[in-house]
Amino acid sequence: MNAINNSPERISVIPTGGALGAEITGLDLSQPMPPATVAIIRQAFLDHCVVFFRDQTLSEPDQVRFTRYFGEPVIHVREQAERATPEIMMVSNVKQNGKPIGALGHREIEFHSDLSYMPKPGTISMLYAVEIPDQGGATQWCNGYAAYAGLDDAMKQRLAGLRATHLHFRPEQNPETVTDHPVVCTHPETGRKTLFVSPYFAKTIVGMEESESQDLLTTLFAYETRPEYIWTHQWQVGDLVMWDNRATMHRREPFPDTQRRIMKRTQIYNETVPVE
Ligand code: SIN
Repeated sequence: MNAINNSPERISVIPTGGALGAEITGLDLSQPMPPATVAIIRQAFLDHCVVFFRDQTLSEPDQVRFTRYFGEPVIHVREQAERATPEIMMVSNVKQNGKPIGALGHREIEFHSDLSYMPKPGTISMLYAVEIPDQGGATQWCNGYAAYAGLDDAMKQRLAGLRATHLHFRPEQNPETVTDHPVVCTHPETGRKTLFVSPYFAKTIVGMEESESQDLLTTLFAYETRPEYIWTHQWQVGDLVMWDNRATMHRREPFPDTQRRIMKRTQIYNETVPVE
């Protein structure tokens, strides 16, 4: 894309027509953004939970600078290979000299909200596509607002006041004390209620007998990942996708390990703990 001035008049926000998501066109993310443009992106992000920009050519400092318009990009808690830009987490199955250049490999990653195992989990994540496989590797998001709104009153009452523990399967990524969050959270910016339990990280309902807790979580996982709550992004090289972890969960489809997938991720954390 040729450098453009990113004025707000250039922007179009085009909803996907699916459960969530909108494409934003007319911007070159490698160039500075006036505040009015940032405000439109932020509002579209809050309205649609996931926004994406196609055909971007971004250096690592460009991606970090763009991320910074929305909050402070942080270094991910996971131990990572030496890299030029610490705020960038490489998400890749590619190996160089026998060593992985990034994290998360080629297998399926179940639905989750980034860093929900931390007391102050991820708010915004951004993923920039550098290389993509021919088959598989799409990313899906599900809409926690729609899932909560679709619950019947009896279930809404049952969930009120409940909390769930969240754990990463790699022990070294968890904080010293196991984190728990409300099962239903109120989004700090939109004020809307959303379901906040994921099959990848949510483990138990606090204070509930084990089999009842597992039954309830299994019911919620099946419910919130129904097709009507899901939208799938088929990646193109040059896409940058920005999502709201407070209102969505995402899942990565597997892809053949014989193919290369290189994505660069930046991350902003919550400043506060999630509340019901
Ligand atoms: C992630 O779960 O953050 C990675 C998603 C992806 O690789 O598409």
